[in-house]
Amino acid sequence: MAIATGAAIGAPIDRLEGAEKVAGAAKYAYEYDVERAAYAIGGCSTIAKGRIRAIDTDEALAAEGVLAVLWHENAPKLHEQLDDGELMLFQSNRVAYRGQLVAVVIAESLEAAQEAERLLRVEYDVEDHDVELRADHPRLYKPEKVNPQFPTDTFDGVFDDAFAAAPVQVDRTYETPAYHNNPLEPHTTVASWQGDAVTLWDSNQGVQPVVETVAKAFGLEQDRVRVISQHVGGGFGSKGTPRPNVIAAIMASQLVGRPVKLAVTRQQMFAYVGYRTPTIQRLRLGAEPDGTLVAIAHDVWEQTSTVREFAEQTAVVTRMMYAAPHRRTTHRLVALDVPTPSWMRAPGECPGMYALESAIDELAVELGVDPIELRVRNEPELDPESGQRFSSRNVVACLREGAERFGWSERRGPGERQEGRWLVGLGVAASTYPARRRPSQALARAEADGTFAVRLRAADIGTGARTALAQIAADTLEVPVERVRLELGDSEFPQAPLAGGSMGLASWGSAIVKACRALRVADGDEVRVDTSDDVGGDPPLAKHGFGAQFVEVRVDVDTGEVRIPRALGVFACGTIVNPKTARSQFLGGMTMGISMALHEESVLDARFGDFVNHDLAQYEIAAHADVRDLEAIWLAEDDPHVNPMGAKGIGEIGIVGTAAAVTSAIYNATGVRIRKLPVRLEQLLAAGSAPPAGHSAPE
Ligand code: MOS
Repeated sequence: MAIATGAAIGAPIDRLEGAEKVAGAAKYAYEYDVERAAYAIGGCSTIAKGRIRAIDTDEALAAEGVLAVLWHENAPKLHEQLDDGELMLFQSNRVAYRGQLVAVVIAESLEAAQEAERLLRVEYDVEDHDVELRADHPRLYKPEKVNPQFPTDTFDGVFDDAFAAAPVQVDRTYETPAYHNNPLEPHTTVASWQGDAVTLWDSNQGVQPVVETVAKAFGLEQDRVRVISQHVGGGFGSKGTPRPNVIAAIMASQLVGRPVKLAVTRQQMFAYVGYRTPTIQRLRLGAEPDGTLVAIAHDVWEQTSTVREFAEQTAVVTRMMYAAPHRRTTHRLVALDVPTPSWMRAPGECPGMYALESAIDELAVELGVDPIELRVRNEPELDPESGQRFSSRNVVACLREGAERFGWSERRGPGERQEGRWLVGLGVAASTYPARRRPSQALARAEADGTFAVRLRAADIGTGARTALAQIAADTLEVPVERVRLELGDSEFPQAPLAGGSMGLASWGSAIVKACRALRVADGDEVRVDTSDDVGGDPPLAKHGFGAQFVEVRVDVDTGEVRIPRALGVFACGTIVNPKTARSQFLGGMTMGISMALHEESVLDARFGDFVNHDLAQYEIAAHADVRDLEAIWLAEDDPHVNPMGAKGIGEIGIVGTAAAVTSAIYNATGVRIRKLPVRLEQLLAAGSAPPAGHSAPE
């Protein structure tokens, strides 16, 4: 049953904690004043594979203010084997990748710890490493599933025959590099061990997974693990599950018998907290002359590490996006001597849709059909994968609305639009992201002063979730939002899933609606609810948000420099609870997509096995000057099937499709198709995109 949206839902309310944040009063994990805190800094391996023979800690321990050095010889044994091998910290002398944590130095001050870390002498037995992903790697294998538990491969019909017989064929391979999440706030844990209990002030996307993992790792009951996480400076997936910093900080606190503060350095964030796997993706599309798809294949090669299998679900999105009688999707992995890839904004959909939507654009070129028209002709009635109806699917409406607003009709062919020294082109791509929800609990309480407390283990990682959830509570209680006190980010509160998979608002909001409704008819002044049964009873429909990404590019005819003067995202994601914070989510995603297309790349040096551009000076991220006239809008969409708010998650969809729109626009401007991200000047120049020098006109 949908809730009636009242005064709060749909209002562009400022973030509830906005003033606190800009005044510097909102506390992030490292900022908590914890008495007698010691400071820890990680030491990382300088080899990509091998064993630690010994660590000479004498010099470090003799340095002023140093309390201890934690490493595998003196680390406590973890209580049980954790699924995430990255967390089995200091349990053996094996080094699985360069940058892996091999020691932690704990001192009276951060400076003393940093200084002493440089004095550690680590002796290794070095083994040959292998860090290069290739589509013909001899150790490629088929994982049992891809994240979180999709089939690794799917086959419908007889792809090979159908593709060979198709009148029009596109067979292209696309590559994306490793990307690092780079939230502004690093992964940080302040740990205070008290014998049979531990308190953590931690930067994460959900206190729940931290509680569960820490309880397992250290053999504690879950109620002995307190996690406080009030404000979080971003995560983009990298803080979705606890990273090694959590385990390290707890062990360090055990060792010195004091609370310990540990922040991962920016450089270390390029090693042990996760990144998006590089991908190699082969797309084959076979079509009738009118554009009707008859055969679709999406084959993916990607990497994982030797400590943990992480199988990104890159081709899964292709299964629901377009129909054809003959289809195949496959994933192959190779476990390399590299850090473990992990979740990064729209894992699967983001790289997958870059390749799929690029191939669709290439097919449109082959056919001589407008790429929007081609998508309209291939719009499926039902989910091609499950055969289920869509709860709502308004991708065509997004494409049409965007085309109208963006001036799509002014689009010309490659090389046909030049303004001064710039070749101008327009590109488009579809966007999508699943709209799921998970079980959650929540507590609602009527206070004596007429306010309402709403509590659950939700996380606001900078998205505005706290504000949007207060709006949902206010409308359910039919009170002004000022009378709601939304409290989250604390394991004292009822269980709730993490902020991940764009499921936060949908999951937590469902529990809040249920709690607030129950409170209105309750005898007492406090209720607790659980949505497990509601979520379990969700209708068997295909539920996804959709969108369309439009990009204009300008390419310098002589230098190949690419500029994006404007971009537009049009989304259909059900109810938009807070237009102000929602717009930021969409724009942030689109910016990250532009950045993925043009700027970002984690460059692995195969000789040493490390990401060489491991800081924000060398890892390029789109800056203000790179995103000019960027706009995100959304269509009114009423979807009563997804959850009581009718809201589809919007944290990730903004990045999906953007990169394909960029490279399609570059093709439209220049006639050069870039199939390896990020786009580089030399790729454009080598392909002879730019007309010969001398052809350009002065600005
Ligand atoms: Mo998001 S990558 O599911 O936290």
